[in-house]
Amino acid sequence: MRFKRLSSACGLKVSTISLGTWHLPRLPERDDWGAYKIDKEELKKVLKVAIDNGLTFIDTANRYHGGMSPVDLRHVGNAERLLGELLKAYDRQELVIATKVAGRMGPGPNDEGLSRKHVMWQIGESLRRLRMDYVDIYYMHRHDPETPKLEIMRTFTYLVQQGLIRYIGASNIPALDLMEFLYLIKEYRLEPIVVLQYKYNLMERGIERDIIPVAKRHGLGLAVYSPLAQGVLTGKYIDVKSRKWRIPELSRATYMKSISRRYFTDENLGFLLDYMEFARSKGLTPAQLSLAWTINMERRWKVPIIPIVSVSRLSHLEEALAAADVQLNDDDLKYLDELSTKAKVL
Ligand SMILES: NC(=O)c1ccc[n+]([C@@H]2O[C@H](COP(=O)([O-])OP(=O)(O)OC[C@H]3O[C@@H](n4cnc5c(N)ncnc54)[C@H](OP(=O)(O)O)[C@@H]3O)[C@@H](O)[C@H]2O)c1
Repeated sequence: MRFKRLSSACGLKVSTISLGTWHLPRLPERDDWGAYKIDKEELKKVLKVAIDNGLTFIDTANRYHGGMSPVDLRHVGNAERLLGELLKAYDRQELVIATKVAGRMGPGPNDEGLSRKHVMWQIGESLRRLRMDYVDIYYMHRHDPETPKLEIMRTFTYLVQQGLIRYIGASNIPALDLMEFLYLIKEYRLEPIVVLQYKYNLMERGIERDIIPVAKRHGLGLAVYSPLAQGVLTGKYIDVKSRKWRIPELSRATYMKSISRRYFTDENLGFLLDYMEFARSKGLTPAQLSLAWTINMERRWKVPIIPIVSVSRLSHLEEALAAADVQLNDDDLKYLDELSTKAKVL
């Protein structure tokens, strides 16, 4: 695994692929409230193989559970707790841990968002769950229009000064609000936002319009989520013989109805069959081609792009690791540009 600078706005180096924890390896059994139980043994293996292979950039969030979405208040914090338990076996200094704040963590009026009160509460809770004394990157998980931006940036700056977080990230913030944050940081000489986190894959390229130009102008890195379109780009939801959609047992689509609602269209079926054929012609699996595409797109946009992939079994991780150094040429990217115009996610 190679390492690269996260962005030109900071000196942090990260692995070229990041491991996400929104969804984790699952057992077929569910708990009393209907959430899949997490396969801790498989997760332990995944973390070992990832870290042994240099994939040391790990992404989580205070709300993640690992086998449920949306996550109810009984289950929030589970992914951080599992990481805290399992990462104890590793050298903290070798790891780059990112977590997020803003999602609802309790029933009260101050139990979500980016107010100073909420953020100061949640950084303590995240560190306790993770059993760590700092996180490397702390993201605003989403926009909070009810907290002044200066309050947010001053709070995050304070966390850096206190040594509780090393760097600041922003996720899912609309481009105009992001520009306002960047302006305030400069005006008030606050700690910078160094990395952005948004959805980006061959079927969902919306950030090319507004977020990528902002990242480029301000030298920000991009950690991109759902690089496999939540598994759709692996081809797992297609029965190639009958050219029909299908939902395999235990897959994410069994408990996230939005996957079939948003992706399972005739246009996307046609796109995916051609896409899978192209991957085969390149000697890659569809998952590897998708990850390689995001990594290779940094040549075009001239900003660091790091895909964050979730895996529900060890073989998924092994497939992803093999994609880290795949080179796509300009003709490949052009062909995929044309092909992706056929995909329409609802
Ligand atoms: N900032 C945000 O708001 C935000 C939002 C979403 C995600 N994220 C972060 O980004 C990470 C990645 O997002 P994502 O989970 O949507 O990513 P993704 O990589 O697009 O989808 C991962 C899913 O694809 C399936 N998969 C992976 N490799 C496979 C393979 N080789 N063959 C077949 N299926 C495979 C697995 O699904 P099955 O479980 O069905 O097997 C896996 O859970 C998350 O874990 C999280 O850390 C952040």
